[in-house]
Amino acid sequence: MIDAFRQWAFDRRDHTHSQRVYDWWSRHDWVYAAFVAAFLFGRTGEFRDRTVDALSLDHSDTALDVGCGPGPNFDRLADAVGPTGTIVGVDASPGMVKRARERGEQVNCEVEVLRADARRLPVAHARFDGVCATLSLSAIGDVEAVVSEMSDALRPGGRIAVLDARSFQMAPLRWLNPLIEGVSAYITNWYPEAPIVQSVEETFPSVFSETFHGGTVYVVTGTKGA
Ligand SMILES: C[S@@+](CC[C@H](N)C(=O)[O-])C[C@H]1O[C@@H](n2cnc3c(N)ncnc32)[C@H](O)[C@@H]1O
Repeated sequence: MIDAFRQWAFDRRDHTHSQRVYDWWSRHDWVYAAFVAAFLFGRTGEFRDRTVDALSLDHSDTALDVGCGPGPNFDRLADAVGPTGTIVGVDASPGMVKRARERGEQVNCEVEVLRADARRLPVAHARFDGVCATLSLSAIGDVEAVVSEMSDALRPGGRIAVLDARSFQMAPLRWLNPLIEGVSAYITNWYPEAPIVQSVEETFPSVFSETFHGGTVYVVTGTKGA
């Protein structure tokens, strides 16, 4: 029964469903924040800090935030690139783009937010010093395409940092996975099966992964070769 529900929810995932659900989330700030906090075991700020720190950005750098949502990384990225730096956010949901632009007006650096599909990033080759994606690759599904676009956007020596979460790896919580995967697929277009870490490992020569909560949450960082 639950497996059938999960399959039903998995079959509904696509780009149109994603934009519909994320437009809804964009209008419900506190519900979104609560959901993300639950997904990240209440350690949202700490994991975002780790992700942005992993980019090793300097002042005046240019950073790309893929699937930026309402811009929860912008404060941290702005601190890292300083007032002479630039942040570019990309998101496919019109509602999220609106929220991200509002957030971008509140930080002390140049912020540009583009509405676009991350599978075809409309940004110049090798423009960025750092590229991050927080909880967004698992909402897109076509991870290999997005990681390849992220790599293309990075300058040689630039860094990628991905924060994401997967299904419970440890017993007894993993018995909840069919239900959680089905509900999350429906309400967040979640692809728990997306090979995110593998894609980063296959695309970047030098990769470092950290896992938390029994492997459920992870930050994977890579550096683009010359
Ligand atoms: C779970 S939210 C994460 C938002 C934000 N990065 C955060 O950490 O809170 C996933 C985001 O990915 C965006 N997204 C999903 N598919 C996308 C695509 N193909 N291209 C660009 N953004 C996409 C959604 O609109 C949504 O804002």
